[in-house]
Amino acid sequence: MKGMKDMKEIKENVLKRFGEVFGDTEGAKVYFAPGRVNLIGEHTDYNGGHVFPAALTIGTYGVARKREDRSLRFFSMNFEHLGVIESSLEELVPEKSAGWTNYPKGVMWAFGEKGMRLPLGLDLLLWGNIPNGSGLSSSASVEILTGFVLRDLFGFEVSNQELALIGQFSENRFNGVNCGIMDQFAIAMGKKGHAIFLDTADLTYRYAPMKLEHAKIVIACSNKKRGLGDSKYNERRSECEKALEELQRVISIRTLGDMTEEQFEAHKGAIQSDVRRKRAKHAVYENRRTLRAVEALQNNDISLFGQLMNESHISLRDDYEVTGVELDTLAEEAWKVKGVIGSRMTGAGFGGCTVSIVEEDAIHAFIEKVGSAYQKKIGYAADFYIVEPGEGPMIL
Ligand code: GLA
Repeated sequence: MKGMKDMKEIKENVLKRFGEVFGDTEGAKVYFAPGRVNLIGEHTDYNGGHVFPAALTIGTYGVARKREDRSLRFFSMNFEHLGVIESSLEELVPEKSAGWTNYPKGVMWAFGEKGMRLPLGLDLLLWGNIPNGSGLSSSASVEILTGFVLRDLFGFEVSNQELALIGQFSENRFNGVNCGIMDQFAIAMGKKGHAIFLDTADLTYRYAPMKLEHAKIVIACSNKKRGLGDSKYNERRSECEKALEELQRVISIRTLGDMTEEQFEAHKGAIQSDVRRKRAKHAVYENRRTLRAVEALQNNDISLFGQLMNESHISLRDDYEVTGVELDTLAEEAWKVKGVIGSRMTGAGFGGCTVSIVEEDAIHAFIEKVGSAYQKKIGYAADFYIVEPGEGPMIL
């Protein structure tokens, strides 16, 4: 969405604001970390399955500067009214009142846990153009940006892949969301024009060019905030873990991602509850769907890829139950539009966005039709963005 020209302009703007907020820009550097969209492979990453996300060209911009003492000063241009939030390296504990600063603080804490203690504090200003709570990973973007800044400012020897693991560790242990590795990995390892085919069982991955011919990736943002999403997310995760334990009594598997559909059908009776059986079914089938989708893309069979995206949504709606009326309306209305190759919810669900692959000459009609049907049924508007797979974190 944002080209290089915009990036240059944004760089100037954030630097200027940094100077206003923190006195001057002497020694300050500007960084960027993307957001991500997941094309297929949803709720598989904590089940040892495959995912297929891409970094985006929208993301988080940060201006950072080392301090001479151990204090921390944060400022977000997205939450101007909060002003400068002060803390220190001695206070790296999660607090509800710390709001968004819990994400950078969590990463600083995680660096320390991994033996990389920060010698000095910093001033950090952020501005992001990922819609908040949209399911495009604004929080993971802030985490990876922070890790990237710390590596650069203090010279820690840590790879991008390790930054992803540190980001996930901070989210799990500092911010209390038991997320998988997908978001942080997609962001830290992003590559322009490509999606990442990642096996979350062992972190082996490969870049797949997103050659969509005459189609584009369109994101529809429901504008429904996630709300109680985090607790529901943790609940889904434990349902899957319980189902795995039950299955392991009858079949030798390490994760749900180890199973084929046939194996699941043969052994699903071992799962003692209907709800857990549905959750596990989604995890198994979605993983297999992801393998087929990536193969379809490789064979230039975009239409099969789209069909598998639609099946993914149905499974997330009926078996995993993480969609809700907003996301269902966006996907189901999209399926009716000619020129829509595939459409599904993306991210954790419970609000957030759908991702659709739409023929270029149908994009206008898509936005028009889905937008008005959504407004009519839900009572407020959705937002639409045409996006492209972008690079991972960088210094600007
Ligand atoms: C969130 C989590 C990811 C992943 C998705 C669902 O984005 O952070 O780890 O589990 O939900 O696929």
